[in-house]
Amino acid sequence: MLAIIGGTGLTQLANLEITHRQVMRTPYGEPSGAITFGTIKQHEVIFLARHGYGHTIPPHEVNYRANLWALHEQGAKRVVSVASVGGIRADLVPGVIAVPDQIIDYTHGRAFTYFDGRERSVTHIDFTWPYDQDLRRRILEAASIAGEACVDGGAYAATQGPRLETAAEITRYEGDGADMVGMTGMPEAALARELGLAYAAIAVVVNHAAGRGDSRDAIHLETVATVTQPAMARVRNILECLVGCDDD
Ligand code: HPA
Repeated sequence: MLAIIGGTGLTQLANLEITHRQVMRTPYGEPSGAITFGTIKQHEVIFLARHGYGHTIPPHEVNYRANLWALHEQGAKRVVSVASVGGIRADLVPGVIAVPDQIIDYTHGRAFTYFDGRERSVTHIDFTWPYDQDLRRRILEAASIAGEACVDGGAYAATQGPRLETAAEITRYEGDGADMVGMTGMPEAALARELGLAYAAIAVVVNHAAGRGDSRDAIHLETVATVTQPAMARVRNILECLVGCDDD
């Protein structure tokens, strides 16, 4: 079964026919909200709003471990994360949708592993390619069927937030090889891998990163909302096609 974690701008799925919601507890605490069960075009889907249904949980306080644990426990095999990002690479301008293939982690102080050496023996996951390649391919195919342009690949820089970056930080991240920047990609991707979940992300560029393009002097948060809304409608179209090819 496919699980979708919705980020900013996607706290609910309009095309999801909800069957029920379930409040869950996990050994790691409570997820961001009740897990929503439903169908999209008769295909079963689980949905979770990463920041809570009222969008009240900041990126550094999301209980990533509880979220992934709950989805895994409910039978999810694949997890698609939807996340908004700032575009660093020149072609990643506001409104562009990308399926990243790499991650650079700049977060700190987050609960980032299930293997903390207390209850389980230490395990080192392979993370060379942090996103599941097969799920990435399915998303790109779904986008193509839906007629929604989608950039294949790119390195996602995960920052701590909740503040946005300085222009110098963005220059540094770009030098490191980052193409886009967001606040929630980690430890989510690594935790999914630890649980054996196939995980991939749909990144929606909602602004130029700090110091770039029309964010040269400041990131204008009021325009971010106007970009986010139509872009998330396009993401819903992609998800609708994706669930059609995902029944196991
Ligand atoms: N930086 C970090 N996270 C973000 C941004 C950004 O510019 N835009 C959307 N999420």
